[in-house]
Amino acid sequence: MSEIIPHKLIVFEGIDGSGKTTVSKMLFNYMKEKNLPVAWLREPSDSNWGKKIREISRFKTSIPLEEELNYFIEDRKFNVSHNIKPALSQNKTVILDRYYYSTACYQGARGMNMDEIIQMNREFAPEPDITFIIDVDVNIGMNRIKESRNSRVKLFEQKIFLEKVRKNYLTLTGKNIHIIDGNQDLKTILKRIIEILGL
Ligand code: TYD
Repeated sequence: MSEIIPHKLIVFEGIDGSGKTTVSKMLFNYMKEKNLPVAWLREPSDSNWGKKIREISRFKTSIPLEEELNYFIEDRKFNVSHNIKPALSQNKTVILDRYYYSTACYQGARGMNMDEIIQMNREFAPEPDITFIIDVDVNIGMNRIKESRNSRVKLFEQKIFLEKVRKNYLTLTGKNIHIIDGNQDLKTILKRIIEILGL
């Protein structure tokens, strides 16, 4: 079924290697070609917090969980005020590659309470109009990562951990949360998303 309400904040979620970045960029290009006002943003963002997060994950250093959560929250606060809200106020549709469901599912997989994380984020972050969870088998996701990154599997990307993250994503429900089978080819996935968005 397609929906007719315009979606202003479209969020893509999924485990590492799910293909969400590629699919979200394909949607961005599709909308651009249709001359629709659109912005593509990602989290972790390019803020100093986001850079710090990427450094930590690259060098496989581990930091206390509370600190880790704090980095993601601070990065999101920056992204909301500097990138997301300005784009929305210019009447653009914002396509977001990861958002607070990542924090709920990843830091949740590290032992934190998912609902509390979502509540904490809702205090400052606009609610997504629609969320697509690109769901793939963890082995498929990990193989894609290995292929594209020369076997350099990062801290966040370990199998058992990703199994927990995937399980967390699959517990998310709501009328505007759509779980998409990410084992299909990219064109089929995009077609399904466009259909749901009614574009
Ligand atoms: P990712 O989108 O995979 O970045 P890159 O394109 O650089 O690989 O995000 C980096 C990692 O951060 C990823 O494993 C998911 C994790 N993450 C969290 O744990 N919590 C969060 O809130 C976010 C946004 C990401």
